[in-house]
Amino acid sequence: MSNLPSADITHHDTLVAPHAVHQLVPAMQAQLVGLEQLTQRLLIALLCGGHILIEGPPGVAKTRTIKEFSRLMDARFVRIQATPDLLPTDMTGSDVFHQPTAEFRFIPGPLFNNIVLVDEINRAPPKVQSALLEAMGERQISTGGTTRVLEEPFLVAATQNPIEHEGTYPLPEAQLDRFMFFVQLSLPTLDNERRILDQVLAENSNASEHDHQSLALCTVDDVASARNAVHGVFISDAVKDYIVRLTGATRGIGKGGVKPGEIAHAASPRASINLALAARAHAWLHLRNYVTPDDVAQLAPDILCGRIILDYRTRAAGISERDVVQQILENTPRL
Ligand SMILES: Nc1ncnc2c1ncn2[C@@H]1O[C@H](COP(=O)(O)OP(=O)(O)OP(=O)(O)O)[C@@H](O)[C@H]1O
Ligand SMILES: [Mg+2]
Repeated sequence: MSNLPSADITHHDTLVAPHAVHQLVPAMQAQLVGLEQLTQRLLIALLCGGHILIEGPPGVAKTRTIKEFSRLMDARFVRIQATPDLLPTDMTGSDVFHQPTAEFRFIPGPLFNNIVLVDEINRAPPKVQSALLEAMGERQISTGGTTRVLEEPFLVAATQNPIEHEGTYPLPEAQLDRFMFFVQLSLPTLDNERRILDQVLAENSNASEHDHQSLALCTVDDVASARNAVHGVFISDAVKDYIVRLTGATRGIGKGGVKPGEIAHAASPRASINLALAARAHAWLHLRNYVTPDDVAQLAPDILCGRIILDYRTRAAGISERDVVQQILENTPRL
């Protein structure tokens, strides 16, 4: 708050009324050990109509997180395992001939759900990836000359495994840009692993009790009203300038700008737009109705690092996308 020019807040109430959607954060945390960041990013993506790409090793509760999330808000959930023989119509649905009436009827595919988990997206062939990414961007599906609008909320959470690359179709840069967040998970600390063990063993020994814990806390209608509330969060010119400085820095512009040759592909305006939208939702989740530069700085790594491609020499020097974004954040003035 100290970073915010006082003129920005004088005409605005600073607190947001607690909303049913706010309850999702502690409820998710009760079901998961660690993973606060993933939970929060999911919620922000949901509030902004964004999507999320999760990279991490197997068995770190990616499925559990998304399933729990869907259940707590009573949303329709589906999981798709991507394989090389998947067809676009396996995702979108298709017209099937109905014998008794002698006409074609549309059978909706798994994309006609609220929360769609696509496991190992990089195993899906490019045509499937592009059908999926089109649905994510347009929020509608066109088959056989008819366009059908997807129901809101519609969120795609896609996973990819950082280790296995053989026989995969890596997402092209243009398609990575469609995801609001790129979250990277790692294996838990030993302390957390012990807590996971306790939690899962307790659930196994009392399976019915676990079902009761997972009753929905809000509905998809609450999500719609939360989205409206997020639209009302104030973002000052100073914060917008900071966002543009960060994106510009990936293009080598300004004080925090990357050095020539460090980055092969810089962030697009979609990065700035996503930073602004996500920062508003982040502020709202913290019960503030104005954005601070800190909201932006906290989200910047998960928004920017999927949108830049390092030069091969940078990579060869052992520097990661996250390192570069961290360096940009440290060197870019907030005001
Ligand atoms: N941080 C965690 N909190 C609670 N449970 C966890 C956590 N990490 C792992 N688990 C437990 O580990 C098991 C594996 O989780 P899950 O199936 O969600 O992993 P995954 O990341 O989807 O794996 P895969 O990549 O193989 O699909 C589950 O029983 C889950 O409860
Ligand atoms: Mg899984």
